[in-house]
Amino acid sequence: MPGMLGTLLVAGALLLAVTAESQVPPPNYDEAKVPQYTLPDPLVCEDGTRVTDAQTWREKRRPELLDLFRHHMYGKAPGRPEKMRFELIESDTAALGGLATRKQIAICPTGSRADIHFDLLIYLPNDCARPSPIFLGLNFNGNQAIHTDPGIRLAESWMRDNPDGGVVDHRATEKARGTEASRWAVEMILKRGYGVATMYYGDIDPDFDDGFQNGIHPFYYRPGQTQPAPDEWGSIAAWAWGLGRALDYCETDGDIDAKRVAVLGHSRLGKTALWAGAEDERFAMVISNDSGCGGAALSRRCFGETVLRINTSFPHWFCDNFLQHNGKEDELPIDQHELIALSAPRPVYVASAEKDLWADPRGEFLSAKGADPVYRLLGTGGLPTDEMPGLNHPVQGTIGYHIRTGEHDVTDYDWACYLDFADKHLKRA
Ligand code: GCU
Repeated sequence: MPGMLGTLLVAGALLLAVTAESQVPPPNYDEAKVPQYTLPDPLVCEDGTRVTDAQTWREKRRPELLDLFRHHMYGKAPGRPEKMRFELIESDTAALGGLATRKQIAICPTGSRADIHFDLLIYLPNDCARPSPIFLGLNFNGNQAIHTDPGIRLAESWMRDNPDGGVVDHRATEKARGTEASRWAVEMILKRGYGVATMYYGDIDPDFDDGFQNGIHPFYYRPGQTQPAPDEWGSIAAWAWGLGRALDYCETDGDIDAKRVAVLGHSRLGKTALWAGAEDERFAMVISNDSGCGGAALSRRCFGETVLRINTSFPHWFCDNFLQHNGKEDELPIDQHELIALSAPRPVYVASAEKDLWADPRGEFLSAKGADPVYRLLGTGGLPTDEMPGLNHPVQGTIGYHIRTGEHDVTDYDWACYLDFADKHLKRA
């Protein structure tokens, strides 16, 4: 009977989900149908006062904006765990034919690897002075997916089944090696003098809506609590928090320059990188690759994916308070240009792709532009263009932006731009 009941419940939930999906209006891709909107001014405080100096930004407006994003959108996350431990599981100073040193670390936030652990994979260039600046980002399919290097440990956490991609019974197999390699230009990064570090996002919180029973959340429930409160962390905030823990590790590793870590991510993980950069100012640079709705794209344009759409398909990504904003983008006290502004005055890069209309490339550009006044106030200069640049014409001030030809993806072209940007801003000491 319980089996039958379970099946009925799952079927019921599926039916509800399908019905909810069918009630979401089709996406708008017509510029003429973008609603009239006024963006909230990042330099006007909630009490109406205007921010005219860096100190007021730092001490009043920035904390206020951060709290608004926590409360309405991503949810608040805990701090650095006191009992956290790092275990070096493996290292090889002659990885990738001698090009790199590989390290694999288990990050154990509770102190016990058996509770939960995040596997951090790091490559550092051998042919360069240490400590190395690095790019840090989460991956979608397990560390073994980012390169065919047989020394990478297979991910151990739950994954969406994909027999063609080597994921069977929700676990990675040998066949899962290198399946995401085109998105990680490992050799190019190393040859330019940077390290690269990554973790599987599912190690932190598996990406499906289970009411937050798995992943990191339950370790933080108060007695009697069974799911995060409406203003507490959803999955994106949890993934971003995990990036902060990887940075904690970097601070303990003398081969890595923890003051020169660029956090980056693609798509949902680009949303995550932006939030990680906002929450954790130790990240020296922030890169959003095709992050779209809930990331770099302005919500108020309602172009491509909307708040209602994203909350319907992915109810676990944001905190529950965000559901109240379904279909009411114009009532949000924040918009995504202010998320980008939370990285100021640190260099931030927003990248779009021509065919990625779902993520609203123009909305991503306008958002980057909308953060510009904050950068200018802080004296770093912002995005040095008023017009959206042409295809494959990156603009790189302290805010960088490009739209490249092609699809929703991370390509070598994107990486080449990020490396140029890093050369400008994260120059090796
Ligand atoms: C879906 C989702 C996007 C997200 C993307 C991804 O398309 O609607 O918001 O960015 O998945 O993460 O690949």
